[in-house]
Amino acid sequence: MTEIPLHFEPPRGMRDFYPEDMAARNAVFAAWAEAARRFGFVQYDACVVESLELLKRKSGEEIGDQLYTFKDKSDRDLALRPEMTPTLARMIAARHGMLSFPLKWFAIAQCFRYERTTKGRKREHYQWNLDILGEESLSAEAEILACVFSALTALGLNAQDVRTHFSSRALLADLLAKAGISEEHHSAAFLALDKRGKIPDDEIVLLLRKAGLKQEDVAAAFRIMALNDLDDVRSFLGGETPALAAAAELPRRMADYGLDDYLCFDIGVVRGLGYYTGIVFEAYAAAHKMRAIFGGGRYDRLLGELGGNALSGVGLGFGDVVIMDLLQAKGGMPSGPDRIDLAVGFMEEAQRPAAVRLARVWREEGRRADLALHCEKAKNFFGRVGKGGVTEAVFLGPDDLASGTARVKNLSGRTERQIPLK
Ligand code: HAM
Repeated sequence: MTEIPLHFEPPRGMRDFYPEDMAARNAVFAAWAEAARRFGFVQYDACVVESLELLKRKSGEEIGDQLYTFKDKSDRDLALRPEMTPTLARMIAARHGMLSFPLKWFAIAQCFRYERTTKGRKREHYQWNLDILGEESLSAEAEILACVFSALTALGLNAQDVRTHFSSRALLADLLAKAGISEEHHSAAFLALDKRGKIPDDEIVLLLRKAGLKQEDVAAAFRIMALNDLDDVRSFLGGETPALAAAAELPRRMADYGLDDYLCFDIGVVRGLGYYTGIVFEAYAAAHKMRAIFGGGRYDRLLGELGGNALSGVGLGFGDVVIMDLLQAKGGMPSGPDRIDLAVGFMEEAQRPAAVRLARVWREEGRRADLALHCEKAKNFFGRVGKGGVTEAVFLGPDDLASGTARVKNLSGRTERQIPLK
């Protein structure tokens, strides 16, 4: 790969999309949008700049330290959105009385987070958001997950490529309560436990102690995080709870969609955002060590906490960076710039009007025609358009105008056909 001189690079963590990158991005966006529409989600969008007030975070949430903040010329405190969920909640709260629920919305949102850049981690990414608002039953989680798996299938990935781990914040709350850890410490404990595997355990111990857990509570929290499956969880709890029943039910719901293979219970999935209240999930590439492909869960209190009417929600965010890395690693990355159906060139000014007419007819018929901008030699024209992306090419010279016909060459098949120039 050619080295880009420093002063031509975008700001650190930001991204340029050259035509070949754009083709790949468009293919991913198209798979997302098509899957969402097939599942009955409708698209929305919103401003990239939000009020800082809306985005102010619970302490302990990493995302709070990653905000790009600034003041506008009227001294308003603003920020670039790091995620779409607070904006979605704001939009729903603003029209609550006019909307009918449950509603299913999707967006492809550009988000900004001032993160340490590593593989799969940029300061700017696009995120597919799928959310169902106003549905309390597990059907919402199942429908969201089925939709996301349908997009993965469209991108050529299957249950062997992607493992979706799920757990439940409500279940973790039951377990913490069973261990004698009072509810007031739960949210801080969730955010600390989410960091397992990302920072050393002794730092997590410190975070848990800071969250108000006693030494023996910390030990209990670690015992909970070592529970292997739902049977272990049941034994720890000494019986069933509604949260445990829901966690056990989710794979059965996915089996109705033929998708239980994608899902495994993992007590370690906690999520680093404070608003989740129920089922939470994160998906990872099975054969590669990468950041999560997507993550989400149930957030039943967010709208109420923002000052709107209480409303349950389930949703996920699916970034474009990790999926593109994964598709590339698998060799399944859509590549090459957009295709051109016909390239039209001409030798002299005298043939320009005929070339323009030809391109015009093709364009009016809905095909993509690339018209040369100046006269050139046939060798230069065919050398230029033969580099890929063009299906057919026609080059007009004085003889073609005299005969009233031209030869259209198929560049890959090396075949030719005659067309009238009228
Ligand atoms: P999140 O887990 O913070 O969730 O982000 C979702 C996905 O966005 C991640 O799994 C990852 O693919 C991608 N992503 C996030 N940050 C970056 C980054 N710096 N560089 C590259 N990719 C990134 C949320 O944002 C929730 N709002 C999702 C949600 C929607 N929950 C309910 N509805």
